Amino acid sequence: MNPGGEITHPRNLPYRPRRLRTTPVMRSHVRETRVHPSQLILPVFVREGARQPRPITSMPGVVQHSMESLKEAAQEAVELGLGGVMIFGVPTTLDATGSGILAQDGILNRALNEVRAEVGDDILVMADLCLDEFTDHGHCGVLDAQGRVDNDATLDLYAQAAVAQAQAGAHVLGPSGMMDGQVGVIRQALDEAGHTDVSVLAYSVKYASAFYGPFREAVDSTLTGDRKTYQMDPANRREALRELQLDLAEGADMVMVKPAMSYLDMVREVADLSPVPVSAYQISGEYSMIQAAAANGWIDRRAAVEESILSIRRAGADTVLTYFAADFARWWHQDN
Ligand code: PBG
Repeated sequence: MNPGGEITHPRNLPYRPRRLRTTPVMRSHVRETRVHPSQLILPVFVREGARQPRPITSMPGVVQHSMESLKEAAQEAVELGLGGVMIFGVPTTLDATGSGILAQDGILNRALNEVRAEVGDDILVMADLCLDEFTDHGHCGVLDAQGRVDNDATLDLYAQAAVAQAQAGAHVLGPSGMMDGQVGVIRQALDEAGHTDVSVLAYSVKYASAFYGPFREAVDSTLTGDRKTYQMDPANRREALRELQLDLAEGADMVMVKPAMSYLDMVREVADLSPVPVSAYQISGEYSMIQAAAANGWIDRRAAVEESILSIRRAGADTVLTYFAADFARWWHQDN
């Protein structure tokens, strides 16, 4: 400093970080994190009896597929080189035990079957393994006499659903219901039925998040109330590490943190500890916020989408489930 006089600039800075930001080639050369389409999973919805894809108002750009349009989307996922699709079924009839998840001609099992026949082993066919789309009360499990979600009765149904989904052709099952013990019973049921090669992507660290809002419209959810007795409290960190340990002990092949963007600290913690691949789910509300802001011209859509997915990878996720997967891959192919 030179009080009262000219500001003096140091000319002998020992290091200038800007040197590695000078040109696109230099920035690309030193870039630490990359996203490849094969690391992305596209979640898709298929509606029983639909002849046409139906737009989901709160998720502009996402639809409830007909069987035909679902198969086209899966074929496009192959062409774009995505890692896979995660299929959610939207049935027309619901009941207290969500029996539509078990029937081989139920919407989800039919979709798994038809999509697998379409894509073979070219992408991963993943199944959401949860009762909430199939129950008339909208909870992820069956209810006991007091109206509480009955953990152990639900496990029996998950075990049966797992075998049905594997038979239908799923490569990967994604139990998303947050019942205690779900990974273990699913693994055991799969193995007993001879499906030792079907893997389990455990929704290990799933928070009771407000950002699931648009998903409820996407699956015509009938839920009243919330899922706070089974999904995690957004305030908790240590509990996530416990959930991770349990799912690993029960045989999880991959683990997931969900949602992603408000939970990047947990993605990092899980990634640092996990011996298996870590996934993060950029959920419906995260998608819709970006879409809404971009539609208003408030943010640059492509830049915001790419940055959001990159940041999830930088936090430690090996793979990302995102409704932007196909968009991302199209941009990626333009540039590569
Ligand atoms: C439960 C399930 C949900 C999502 C995926 N699986 C909803 C919930 O837990 O309430 C949300 C996905 C999203 O918001 O994009 N089967």
